[in-house]
Amino acid sequence: MIVYLNGEYLRREEARISPEDRGFLFADAIYEVVRFWRGKGYHLEHHIERMRDGLSAVRIDVDPGFYRDVSARLLKENGLADGDAIVYAQVSRGTAPRTHSFPPAGTKPTVFAFARAADPEPPAGGGKAILVPDERWGRCDIKTVMLLPNILAAQAAREAGAVDAILTRDGIAWEGTKANLFCVCDGVVTTAPNGHRILPGVTRGAALEAAKRLGLTVEERPIPIDDLFKAQEVFLASTTLWTYPLVEIDGKRIGDGKPGRVAEALKGKLRKEFSQ
Ligand code: PDD
Repeated sequence: MIVYLNGEYLRREEARISPEDRGFLFADAIYEVVRFWRGKGYHLEHHIERMRDGLSAVRIDVDPGFYRDVSARLLKENGLADGDAIVYAQVSRGTAPRTHSFPPAGTKPTVFAFARAADPEPPAGGGKAILVPDERWGRCDIKTVMLLPNILAAQAAREAGAVDAILTRDGIAWEGTKANLFCVCDGVVTTAPNGHRILPGVTRGAALEAAKRLGLTVEERPIPIDDLFKAQEVFLASTTLWTYPLVEIDGKRIGDGKPGRVAEALKGKLRKEFSQ
């Protein structure tokens, strides 16, 4: 596997990052995950803009436009230019002796990226989820690598035999550990509004637009936990899943307990539009 690190393309085994890198010491870093099909990025420009917003919010001075060329080269070098792949990129504030405030001016940010084949399709038939308190910080809209609450929740889900955890706070079901959350309530395709409590997912935005094109009514509002159990459908949306139906939450059946038509239709539409 060939990876990208600070301007160089290297064998993964040769890529070295200092233990004093602030990404390692403080999770002082921003990341992105972009899907590619035959070398074409899915909403690549939206991912670049989100990374720009994140870098600017945490004041790391890097132009995320590197994503375009680096992705093209990584896909080629790794034999992924013809298939379904993802490119992960991460920018940290760089390497410097540990101190909480910013390192000295001139400290170079670390830029790391790799490409790999997209994950296999998750099992058909939908999945189970559990509800877990959302213990993340106050700026979930910034895609930082500070993912420990997400990791612990995802692990709790795995140990419960579930595909993901739904993060809840103040009685609201906000999102999954690595995906946005949708429900179809009284026929309306509903998802939480963008703001500090969720990541402004690229797939979320595309799914809302696709739903409108399918003639469905959409609404962006916080989803009370109880609404999930009254919904006809609940599903996740992300770069890696497109949409994925949740048929059981905390042991209770959702809708008729089968994958719903809206999640399926949206997945079909998003995939089709991308591969055209
Ligand atoms: N996760 N919410 C969270 C917390 C996420 O981490 C992600 C993406 C999403 C969906 O965003 P998008 O549609 O732009 O992928 C929502 C990526 C895939 C990850 O961490 O691997």
